[in-house]
Amino acid sequence: MSFHALPDERRVTMRDLAEATERGERWPMITAYDALTARLFDEAGIPAILVGDSAAMVVYGHDSTLPVTVDELLPLVKAVVRGAPRAFIVADLPFGSYQASAAQALETAARFMKEGGAHAVKLEGGVAMLPQVETLASAGVPVIGHLGLTPQSINLLGGYRVQGRGEAGELLMRDAKELAAAGACAIVLEAVPSELAARVTEMLAIPTIGIGAGSATDAQVIVWQDLVGLTTGPAPRFVKRYADVHSVMLDAVTRWSDDVRTGAFPTEAQSYA
Ligand code: KIV
Repeated sequence: MSFHALPDERRVTMRDLAEATERGERWPMITAYDALTARLFDEAGIPAILVGDSAAMVVYGHDSTLPVTVDELLPLVKAVVRGAPRAFIVADLPFGSYQASAAQALETAARFMKEGGAHAVKLEGGVAMLPQVETLASAGVPVIGHLGLTPQSINLLGGYRVQGRGEAGELLMRDAKELAAAGACAIVLEAVPSELAARVTEMLAIPTIGIGAGSATDAQVIVWQDLVGLTTGPAPRFVKRYADVHSVMLDAVTRWSDDVRTGAFPTEAQSYA
């Protein structure tokens, strides 16, 4: 199956994504947090959607991903699954919902899959997460790893900056290899040097999904508000803004608001007889 045209009759599976990677086809993954945008991304032919814990920031207004809870993310996952009939939906496991033990990770993943309808989960971390990854994979849960800049560890990392330079790159290589051996079905590489991401991609049979990891990864993921310019202010280097939705919305809302004030809206055209 080529991802230039999603199948009408069924959902994309992790196997489809892995096969696309084997064929050398790059594929896009985008975040979504509600049904309408999820439907639009599905319509655009995006094969994989991540309900990221970035919701903490772009939906709930926190200044990091740490505060968001399972109970806050679950309704967003349900909405995205309902909105996007064809895409493969990945739920991010929030901070504190999986690190304690493999059993805790399975319990949380089961909620996202049973109650939320997600098709896979994502968690952050390297070798420390091997028991979680092994347990999830052997329970039949597609689990995606996340290495490099892992925003849930922001207090340890000391800021949103490039990871994996120098010797840290070798540790990341080891983490990636071990996560794959433990059963991870893909790995997100965030904010790492392109050359390191290329080496990881070359080493692994499973797809690598880059965000600020250069062009050699098998897939790319982006937060949709960054992509279309709904977020404002300085963006990370890896963000390319494809639109200026902030300006478009601001203009529309301002004109409507002015029309309400002057009485120019509504007219007869928007009124019932
Ligand atoms: O939460 C998120 O949106 C993510 C992506 C940036 C990979 O983890």
